[in-house]
Amino acid sequence: MADSEIDQEPTQQVEAARKAFEQEFERFARFTGSAADLSGLSLEQAITELRLLGELRTRHLGKKSALVSSKKMIGRVAPELRASYGHLVQSIETALLQTLEEAEQNLKNYIEAERTILESIDVTMPGRRPRRGHRHPITLVRERLEDIFVALGYAIEDDREIETDFYNFDALNIPENHPARASQDTFYTKEGFALRSQTSTVQIHAMQRRGVPVRMIAPGRVFRRDTPDPTHNPMFFQVEGLCVDRGITMAHLKGTVAELLRRMFGPDTKTRFRPSYFPFTEPSAEFDFSCFKCKGAGCRICKNSGWIELGGSGMVHPNVLRAAGVDPGEFSGFAFGFGIDRMCSLMYELDDIRLLFENDVRFLEQFE
Ligand code: DAH
Repeated sequence: MADSEIDQEPTQQVEAARKAFEQEFERFARFTGSAADLSGLSLEQAITELRLLGELRTRHLGKKSALVSSKKMIGRVAPELRASYGHLVQSIETALLQTLEEAEQNLKNYIEAERTILESIDVTMPGRRPRRGHRHPITLVRERLEDIFVALGYAIEDDREIETDFYNFDALNIPENHPARASQDTFYTKEGFALRSQTSTVQIHAMQRRGVPVRMIAPGRVFRRDTPDPTHNPMFFQVEGLCVDRGITMAHLKGTVAELLRRMFGPDTKTRFRPSYFPFTEPSAEFDFSCFKCKGAGCRICKNSGWIELGGSGMVHPNVLRAAGVDPGEFSGFAFGFGIDRMCSLMYELDDIRLLFENDVRFLEQFE
């Protein structure tokens, strides 16, 4: 039968198409059947496998595939063989599609499950607590000082840190070539401005701006040409106090400073004034207070003296009043000044003032 030999060809062709499919599908076989195993596959790998399967489908079942040309042959095989040939082609196509779709479906399910795991959130997990900031220890001390003076009827002045020589020196009765300029050497700009070396500058601004009588304190930064060491920093904080009115005497100064120190360090704190010299006060005095730690018995903090030195003070020099346009014949006043960071390191028993300026959170967090 010469005819049947010819009709053998399409059958062989469709069988070859099935073989070719099965060969290529081999690597996807593990995604089918009851023992389908996708474990160990990453999400990306599963997506890649699914794409490769799609390409395999186009190659073997698409328009230009051998299987589709075999289908087109159905009408051309000998009539008596057409039914069985057609049946064969159909069943092969159905089988291939089934295998393919099973693998595809398993991959899709796996991808969806993996995505769900990746994208899910555990609503029972504790939330991330926002970290609250807190005040710097210098700010804590400054605010306590401000509260005390506001309660005593003082205004708070916040003035400029860049000054002219007039405010930093001349108006404070420190003429050029005065030795006090050298001890308060600061940083200058080419235009002749200086970073203030003391908050005493605010005495002049406050009297000019407010007139007299005046009661104010001025906390703020000051600058000096110092090399940093445990007790020095080129930038530090001071607070200045000024009280000018008719009939102000040294007794008012002593009462005010003593009250401040009692409120700061406890009601039994004693204050001591020692004669001193400052160009902008006459008479001048430095003041100490009894050690808050040992109550005067002597300890490390007060260097065994029982007293802690804090600041300078005095009766405002007539030249200073004049420089600010105030008549020294009618008004008198007292002034004082001390370091806020020094007070701060005393209170918290810091042995190095630089800790206050290094901004190491491990240090700062202790003051929460
Ligand atoms: N300004 C001085 C300093 O930086 C401190 C000072 C002393 C301020 C005496 C005053 C004062 O108001 O009366 O060393």
